[in-house]
Amino acid sequence: MSRLQVVSGKGGTGKTTVAAALALALATEGKRTLLVEVEGRQGIAQLFETEALPYEERKIAVAPGGGEVYALAIDPELALLDYLQMFYKLGGAGRALKKLGAIDFATTIAPGVRDVLLTGKACEAVRRKDRRGRYAYDYVIMDAPPTGRVTRFLNVNDEVAGLARIGPIHNQAQAVMRVLKSRETAVHLVTLLEEMPVQETADGIAELRSAKLPVGRVIVNMVRPEILDAADLDLVRELPRSALARSLSAAGLGGARRGGHAEKLVDPLLEQAGEYAARYALEQEQRSVLGHLDLPLHELPLLAEGMDLAGLYELATELRKQGIA
Ligand SMILES: Nc1ncnc2c1ncn2[C@@H]1O[C@H](COP(=O)(O)OP(=O)(O)OP(=O)(O)O)[C@@H](O)[C@H]1O
Ligand SMILES: [Mg+2]
Repeated sequence: MSRLQVVSGKGGTGKTTVAAALALALATEGKRTLLVEVEGRQGIAQLFETEALPYEERKIAVAPGGGEVYALAIDPELALLDYLQMFYKLGGAGRALKKLGAIDFATTIAPGVRDVLLTGKACEAVRRKDRRGRYAYDYVIMDAPPTGRVTRFLNVNDEVAGLARIGPIHNQAQAVMRVLKSRETAVHLVTLLEEMPVQETADGIAELRSAKLPVGRVIVNMVRPEILDAADLDLVRELPRSALARSLSAAGLGGARRGGHAEKLVDPLLEQAGEYAARYALEQEQRSVLGHLDLPLHELPLLAEGMDLAGLYELATELRKQGIA
């Protein structure tokens, strides 16, 4: 199992939710995981119902069986200070740089540098060892930018190549790319069973592959329960209206009087079945497109009560059941 798991996908499909569930799932049985956020929107803190995360690794959840989930919201400016500190032992000069706006310059004018700092921080956590030589984290899970930007974001080497051909930024980029392109890394894509996100997933996979970045799994999120299957739907289409009315009244619906009132329920019921059938067909079509991607596919249910901490644990359990973690 890759030690760096990157989660991307179309906006709003559940990247943050799936990354968090994965961090919980991978933390079971005494493991320790780090969930990192790189876009600074405090989505992780919201999900775990805690206060905003500082630029500091802190424990945010305990997994079933005693593992621990840590979280970190990587701030590009602070990561740059960190980085400069490491290489140049800046001390107070770091603060002066910040005042001068040099950090703003480096992180906004040169987005490649910004990205290499963000991915660099995650890779550092992947490689970090404690005094006894054990990894500080068993797994690092990254809540990454959306599909449209993720390849560029991860392919930092190309991005900074034009900026820095030698020197520490260059070396940093090379070190990051060694981790990102290795089997230590897997990039997962989250999608819904809808045409747009599925198309974006297919395009994203092609892009990742052409950049030689390791694609992991496709996770279909918010899957609605199957109420009727294909055979049931055939039956609905062939069922005479009169038979349906009779069954409804036999079931005590529409009043006891023979025929009469149950008849009124037939049209609305068939209309609903029709809508369901249309959605079912669309979803099956998307499943088949996803099936052709030649990647492990997983499905997570739509939690009808909405997302909360209990729901997150439920999704984590589901991921474990499906062998992702
Ligand atoms: N399986 C699920 N069941 C129910 N609700 C879900 C599920 N997964 C995600 N959600 C909800 O869908 C919304 C979007 O999820 P999330 O924030 O994880 O998506 P995202 O891809 O990270 O979005 P963004 O692109 O804005 O970062 C949230 O309100 C979340 O609670
Ligand atoms: Mg998010």
